[in-house]
Amino acid sequence: MPEKVIVKNLYKVYGSHPARALDMLRAGQSKDHILAQTGMVVGVTDANFTVNEGEIFVLMGLSGSGKSTLIRLLNRLVEPSHGQILLGGQDIAAMSKKALIALRRKDLAMVFQSFALMPHLSVLQNTAFGLEVAGVDRKTRERRAMEVLDQVGLRSFAQQMPAALSGGMQQRVGLARALAVDPSLMLMDEAFSALDPLKRTEMQGLLLQLQREQQRTIVFVSHDLDEAFRIGDRIAIMEGGRIVQVGTPDEILRNPSDAYVRAFFKGVDVKKYLLAKDVARTDDTLVISPSADARADMAQAVAQLRQARRNYAFVVGQDARLHGAVSLDTLLRGLENGATSLDGLYLDGVEAVPASLSLHALVGRIVQQPMPLPVVDAQQRYIGAVTQTMLLQKMVDIDAEEAGHE
Ligand SMILES: Nc1ncnc2c1ncn2[C@@H]1O[C@H](COP(=O)(O)OP(=O)(O)OP(=O)(O)O)[C@@H](O)[C@H]1O
Ligand SMILES: [Mg+2]
Repeated sequence: MPEKVIVKNLYKVYGSHPARALDMLRAGQSKDHILAQTGMVVGVTDANFTVNEGEIFVLMGLSGSGKSTLIRLLNRLVEPSHGQILLGGQDIAAMSKKALIALRRKDLAMVFQSFALMPHLSVLQNTAFGLEVAGVDRKTRERRAMEVLDQVGLRSFAQQMPAALSGGMQQRVGLARALAVDPSLMLMDEAFSALDPLKRTEMQGLLLQLQREQQRTIVFVSHDLDEAFRIGDRIAIMEGGRIVQVGTPDEILRNPSDAYVRAFFKGVDVKKYLLAKDVARTDDTLVISPSADARADMAQAVAQLRQARRNYAFVVGQDARLHGAVSLDTLLRGLENGATSLDGLYLDGVEAVPASLSLHALVGRIVQQPMPLPVVDAQQRYIGAVTQTMLLQKMVDIDAEEAGHE
């Protein structure tokens, strides 16, 4: 995926002599020490990361870890003390104020926790506001505003005033306003945090749905693990102004880089985030790839099953797709009856589960299954099998690991 934003050695020090604090940081002094010595606050220190085109990149961390500072550095609502922010080859950190204002209007949009709607303007006028500032004529901007209000489900509220809307609806207007300018980078700072849990989940769903249609590049600040995991393609975890780990939710869950990151998962039910693909294994269940000689395949499969003391095998084609499941019995019968293809030997009622099935749902499926459950990806390609034993083992492993981290 092409890189949309590249951040290099980015620092922010709040205070009167940032250069001095930067020297101290480079000399290895801590944020606390610098505060005690100079009264200056280190907001972000040596941030390096890239945001890929079309991804939702989440900044996650405890309060005061520097998330808002970092996201505001990206559009220079906070002035960098040092470093580069490359957007499409241009360095935002080095840009003139004039160029910056033009860029903000046409390419960057921000959604705030507080909604920040103008109370004296209608929903439509609020939504069109960015376009108005950018000098777009009235007809064009109102047409565009209606289009995005439609996308967030607020078309019929266009003439209402913000005060007449619920919090969730107001934030839909905030989102619509950001979308209206068709920004190539969207910045969202705790955009859903002020909403009640139900509305919050609903807005996450809306964002994901819009993302499937529009694939925007979004940087999203959240202190909520559930939210970060639900919407983030990748997550950067911040601590004390520093980025301590960047990865997909999966990577971070599997390999937390240090105790701080692990602490995020304390009390979090890791099992909740595991999917069928995380449990499926390829080394436990026999897979047959049909050759030109089906009878030889049957004979070989029978021998292998007997040797491994197994009863079932999956048949997977050259295209990696799952064709079906056979058992020792059906293979033997096929040999006896002179079958010349595996096709007639498939067991009935074997339904593959999708790779993205939750562990919870998987447990429900597997208790009714005497045989391994095949797991396939979105293209129906076989990626492994799950048995009851495997599932239990995985759960025991997770519990042991969690206990070890206490
Ligand atoms: N304008 C400012 N002047 C001085 N210090 C600031 C300013 N803004 C933020 N800070 C300090 O910078 C550090 C990072 O703050 P920031 O607001 O970026 O954290 P955050 O991760 O967004 O926290 P929260 O989850 O509470 O929103 C904190 O120590 C904070 O006190
Ligand atoms: Mg913040």
